[in-house]
Amino acid sequence: MRMEEGTFKMFSSISKKMIFLFHMLFYLWEASKANKTVSKPNVVIFMADDLGIGDLGCFGNKTLRTPNIDKLASEGAMLTQHIAASPLCSPSRAAFLTGRYSIRSGIASIHRSGVFLFSGSSGGLPSEETTFAKLLQQKGYSTALIGKWHLGIYCNSSSDFCHHPLSHGFDYFYGIPVTNLRDCKPGHGSVFIEGCKMFIRPSLQFIGIALISLKAIHYLGLSKGLLRALGYLFLIISVLLGLLLLWWYSYRYLNCILMRNHTIIQQPWIYENLTQRFTEEAKRFIKRNSEAPFLLFLSYPQVHTALFASQTFKGKSKHGLYGDAVEEMDWSIGEVLHVLDQWHLSEKTLVYFTSDQGAHVEEISINGEVHGGYNGIYKGGKSTNWEGGIRVPGIIRWPGVVGPDARIDEPTSNMDIFPTVIKLAGESLPKDRIIDGHDLMPLLQGNAVRSKHEFLFHYCNAHLNAVRWHPRNSTSIWKVFFFTPNFSPEDSNGCYDYHVCFCQGDFVTYHNPPLLFDLSKDPEEKNPLTPETESQFYDIIQVIQQAVNNHTTSLPSVPNQLSLDNILWKPWLQPCCSSFLQLCYCDHDIDENKDVL
Ligand SMILES: *[C@@H]1O[C@H](CO)[C@@H](O)[C@H](O)[C@H]1NC(C)=O
Repeated sequence: MRMEEGTFKMFSSISKKMIFLFHMLFYLWEASKANKTVSKPNVVIFMADDLGIGDLGCFGNKTLRTPNIDKLASEGAMLTQHIAASPLCSPSRAAFLTGRYSIRSGIASIHRSGVFLFSGSSGGLPSEETTFAKLLQQKGYSTALIGKWHLGIYCNSSSDFCHHPLSHGFDYFYGIPVTNLRDCKPGHGSVFIEGCKMFIRPSLQFIGIALISLKAIHYLGLSKGLLRALGYLFLIISVLLGLLLLWWYSYRYLNCILMRNHTIIQQPWIYENLTQRFTEEAKRFIKRNSEAPFLLFLSYPQVHTALFASQTFKGKSKHGLYGDAVEEMDWSIGEVLHVLDQWHLSEKTLVYFTSDQGAHVEEISINGEVHGGYNGIYKGGKSTNWEGGIRVPGIIRWPGVVGPDARIDEPTSNMDIFPTVIKLAGESLPKDRIIDGHDLMPLLQGNAVRSKHEFLFHYCNAHLNAVRWHPRNSTSIWKVFFFTPNFSPEDSNGCYDYHVCFCQGDFVTYHNPPLLFDLSKDPEEKNPLTPETESQFYDIIQVIQQAVNNHTTSLPSVPNQLSLDNILWKPWLQPCCSSFLQLCYCDHDIDENKDVL
């Protein structure tokens, strides 16, 4: 009996100690977790271009192979209602980098083209804007952009580099300052011709009619003076057209540029092994900075057309060159993640994957192959604010802090990365401006169940196109449209006749009262609600209208970076690595640091 009691006492004191120890360990573990979230993690960002949410295995695709992205998702959190701030590259990227709607930085066009098209134009991300790269840089991070920028290069002279990545918080840049376009790759057609097809035919008809009239005037023996004047006019127009054509054909040399920091290293860039070079650059950057906190923004030109894939991937997927390009990008992501593992950095690194907007469904190659991605159940695509244009794949991985297998269905935005990483770096948000994004950590760590985005504003260039409202006390996700793009052909799922959808005039239909959907019940945006089918119809519209008024009064007036003046080609701003007579051609992509590691 005694003996047993003694043993019992001994055991109970041991077990008390054990419990105490266990508690200590638990607190330490909790503390370390809490510490981890504030201790300057590395940040690795993968951004695809024009990738559809339906292209990835983890978002339901069964035939495209994206094992590395799928693994990333299963080890972290999937954001299923992740919304790009704009359905076009330049504005979406501006919003992403600054945490603000791009209309606040003036990257919101009032005419047709909503993006930058030329290396020699003066628009871009203004110097007054602060990117998260700049704030992390100030906090001691090493920062690099590898890949696509698309937010301008120069302002007034071809040496000011005022819009260049190195002026916006990146220590290192290896990539393409403008964008990848069909016109960059011989044999892939031209976006200019694609986009202008509908306008070229009437112009040709007009020229034809003019010629016939000229002949008629000649036969009728009308005034010789008039005839001569018309002749000269015709000559001048032909010369101008000829020059335009010449300039068109030199597009590739003038705009498809690969740079290392401020230096042009390939003009035009060579597609061969471009992905391998981006991947190598990214891996080397991580190895160089394994001791210090770093920010790596790997911004793939895939899967924007012109599509490309290296020999290893070409012809391997089930979805043509498009699928090959997606699978090669997935490979590249796997390579970079592997380096994080090798260097024991995975637990210290927040990894984010996204696409700058939805798939460009109208992309059909000149051979008739589908070169645009898949937006799953969602309507429309790039250049529209239907869900297919803005609902992008979002994945965040941070082992030990986020996930695994977490899933956030609440509305989140690509503008949220700004406040999230700024906070993690221990920096405070800028106080002199509105930041539209919200810190994602409370949602990611399960400390909040509701998104802070009660309203999200969906812009089509400078025009407020739609608004999303997630009322605080309800599961509904209302979305109203003030106008919708006119699909052409009418019964299709896009603006195939124009290659992209435009935001104004005859290209859209205005709605008054606005179109209303409840995305929580109708994510496909098939059934617009009416006052008959939704008793709260007018109340909902009214709340949203009030939110629009508040939002609109918060917009400052800033110079428009996509004005005609800022978007057109200025010959004196043209970057050129050789003389103009040598057609601005060069190829010296040699890295002096290659052997350092
Ligand atoms: C997978 O992606 C391809 C390429 O975009 C698309 O054609 C296909 O329909 C998708 N499949 C599924 C099941 O989502």
